[in-house]
Amino acid sequence: MRIIVATKNQDKVKEISKILKRCPYNVVSLSALRKKIYIREDGKTFEENAVKKALAVSKGYPKDYVLGEDSGLSVEYLNGLPGVYSKRYSGKNANTFKNNKKLLKALEGVPLSKRDAAYKCLLVLAKNKKVLKVFEGECRGRINNDFCGENGFGYDPVFYLPEFKKTAAEISVTAKNKISHRGKAFRKFNSYISKIAGIKC
Ligand code: IMP
Repeated sequence: MRIIVATKNQDKVKEISKILKRCPYNVVSLSALRKKIYIREDGKTFEENAVKKALAVSKGYPKDYVLGEDSGLSVEYLNGLPGVYSKRYSGKNANTFKNNKKLLKALEGVPLSKRDAAYKCLLVLAKNKKVLKVFEGECRGRINNDFCGENGFGYDPVFYLPEFKKTAAEISVTAKNKISHRGKAFRKFNSYISKIAGIKC
């Protein structure tokens, strides 16, 4: 059985492949598909974007199970920003470094006790152009005062995990997957697909 994950983000693909590595199905990402599918990520919520991704790919590949994934960082002090704008927070020519810099600047002078944040992941399972189920995962932490660590991607160098006393970029992918928003959402998906497809992971 094949499951298409509707993302081209290779950092996510790396994490997802690890999370699903014991499962007996073939996980492929958008970059591995022949048909080019254009998805406009203009939803107002993670769920809206994840539904868009899942349905756009399901249209092209109706026989496969498709997972639309959308995720990002939500900072309480910033009323939920960067949220759905996480990837392009610093504007037109956004990149990870500029996004993190902008975030640290927006929180300059804000005490650590007011820097609570959460990573969120919304996963939408579709087949035959219909949404079958939505799964959600959240990972709580807070925004550090500076960059720390080399692992992970995106906001990981500034996302501090109190339970580890480290940022998400200072722990291994395996450790991150155990507590991450993506790990949680994908494990929920795993239990569901195991039941409906009669497979065991
Ligand atoms: P997407 O590919 O449009 O869903 O972009 C989501 C953006 O959210 C990424 O480009 C990152 O900036 C951020 N993001 C999502 N998940 C993570 C994570 O696990 N670590 C760090 N940043 C993340």
